[in-house]
Amino acid sequence: MSDTSSGTARKLAIEVKDLHKSFGGQEALRGVDLVVPEGTTCVLMGVSGSGKSVLMKHIMGLMKPDRGVVLVEGQEVAKMNEAELDQMRRKQGILFQANALFDSLNVFDNVAFPLRERTKMSEKEVTETVNQTLAKVGLSHAATRFPGELSGGMQKRVGFARATILQPKILLYDDPTAGLDPLTTAAVNEIIATGKQQLGATSLVITPDVASAFGMADHLALMFEGRVVEYGPPEKFRESQHPEVKAFLRNWLRRRSEKRA
Ligand SMILES: Nc1ncnc2c1ncn2[C@@H]1O[C@H](COP(=O)(O)OP(=O)(O)OP(=O)(O)O)[C@@H](O)[C@H]1O
Ligand SMILES: [Mg+2]
Repeated sequence: MSDTSSGTARKLAIEVKDLHKSFGGQEALRGVDLVVPEGTTCVLMGVSGSGKSVLMKHIMGLMKPDRGVVLVEGQEVAKMNEAELDQMRRKQGILFQANALFDSLNVFDNVAFPLRERTKMSEKEVTETVNQTLAKVGLSHAATRFPGELSGGMQKRVGFARATILQPKILLYDDPTAGLDPLTTAAVNEIIATGKQQLGATSLVITPDVASAFGMADHLALMFEGRVVEYGPPEKFRESQHPEVKAFLRNWLRRRSEKRA
């Protein structure tokens, strides 16, 4: 498949074909199709329970499909052995709703963790790399603080620094702004944009924040009852005549005006 907006054929970082998954007879995914070209940002939207997180877990190799395939950089995730899965996860930066920072480690050691675990860098190289990374997210001054002493936004930035320190080519975000105030939300959205600009990474973002989604996405995808029912660039999405897209956007506008009133 080619990306017509740039006029050049792009490789696909992620390709999902006819993905099915049930839990105890309940179908969570009913044939998901989705592609994310390399270097682009795709935002997944959809009501609670529509299957967004389950889809992402398949892309991370944490769940096995009942049917269908998930390809990451052309390789089928379900067929990877442990070593290949490990290799793939090294290329993925994962940012969840909960930051999952290590509370007993300070900021520096949190960010250094993947380098110490997964590379053979000397402590000197670790120090240099961590310091550079902390500078990029504006946290040089906080290196010796512990997670409990940081604001929510700072914790997110530490989480981002840790998730990206191995320079992942694919960034996966599952609702990274949940429970954050508007200012921190804006900071996280900036971080997501940074991932694209600084790392040239491919991003798949799940967010309920529709305004941010339209701002950051190259492509938007709406999930409904276990399928991607609409996919396209923001312009196309806004004008979609698909009933579920219209309902989703109408609901969002209503909630937004209720909040403002
Ligand atoms: N490990 C699991 N075991 C059983 N059922 C699950 C499991 N994970 C997800 N489900 C079910 O699969 C469906 C899709 O869940 P999923 O977490 O993907 O929703 P979501 O779109 O991410 O929702 P939200 O916006 O609330 O995070 C739901 O009905 C959920 O209850
Ligand atoms: Mg979810």
